[in-house]
Amino acid sequence: MNGEFSLESNPLSISFAGLTLANPTILASGILGYSAESLNRVAKGGAGAVVTKSVGIAPRAGYSNPTVVQAESGLINAMGLPNPGIEVYSEEIRFSKTVLRVPVIASVFGYSAEEYAVVAKRAVEAGADAVELNVSCPHVKQTGAEIGQSPKFLSEVVQTVKAAISKPLIVKLSPNVADITVLARAAVEAGADALTAVNTLKAMAIDAETMRPILSNVRGGLSGAAVKPVALRCVYDIHEALGDVPVVGCGGVANWRDAVEFFLAGASAVQIGTAVAENTEVFQAVTKGVETYLRRKHYGSVKEIVGLAHRK
Ligand code: SIN
Repeated sequence: MNGEFSLESNPLSISFAGLTLANPTILASGILGYSAESLNRVAKGGAGAVVTKSVGIAPRAGYSNPTVVQAESGLINAMGLPNPGIEVYSEEIRFSKTVLRVPVIASVFGYSAEEYAVVAKRAVEAGADAVELNVSCPHVKQTGAEIGQSPKFLSEVVQTVKAAISKPLIVKLSPNVADITVLARAAVEAGADALTAVNTLKAMAIDAETMRPILSNVRGGLSGAAVKPVALRCVYDIHEALGDVPVVGCGGVANWRDAVEFFLAGASAVQIGTAVAENTEVFQAVTKGVETYLRRKHYGSVKEIVGLAHRK
């Protein structure tokens, strides 16, 4: 191969929904700010792709502090979708594409199907390789999970965005629902190319001394190790119900074993979020560990183990 890197011969390379990644680890949305520079730091640290922070049609300040609180085995955050608006952020996406060597997935939100579509279209025009719909933020009114918890609203948003863009469309689902497979099916039937499972679990923290909720917004979303068993069950349920639909596992991945568990449940790739805040080397460590695992178990690629936990 003359030292040339070939994705085809790389056991860690994965393709889903029209995207090809050199390894199956992806930076989750909302971690490390907006700049192309910080996305590039993660890409250089070994992420196979990056998802931007969620961006909307207009600038939004987000909530006042405190916006993050440490929980027993994770973090609870309620930032309130702060973002500079798609017009300003398009420049950052454009710049990202000149420096990053991995796919850039734009996370978008809106307050109507049309708004989601406008933001997604602008992100794609700026160079985003795919769009991830945030229909699962658990605490901002009239967007996020308020849309993603209703099969009807979710279908409308997915269909409208799908008609507006020519790039892969990924839908990030909420775990805060009775049956995630109902929403997964609605998203896929409306045109989603892949699903991310899952966003944060709705949560809160109270300070016993001040006798008040800690977050300024009172309610936030729990991420990190505490949510992994829930996220894993969601991926398993979706794979069982929808078979070959590509799923990206998200929730508490911090090491290679977590990632492998998600692949076995049915995920084609994993997103890593909370763990990045503690360890920016996490992508390389996970990828290396998965490679060693595949060799030890005599498998030739990640895709060979996707969904194997479902074998009877
Ligand atoms: C936030 O900005 O508060 C978090 C966004 C999300 O949970 O989707």
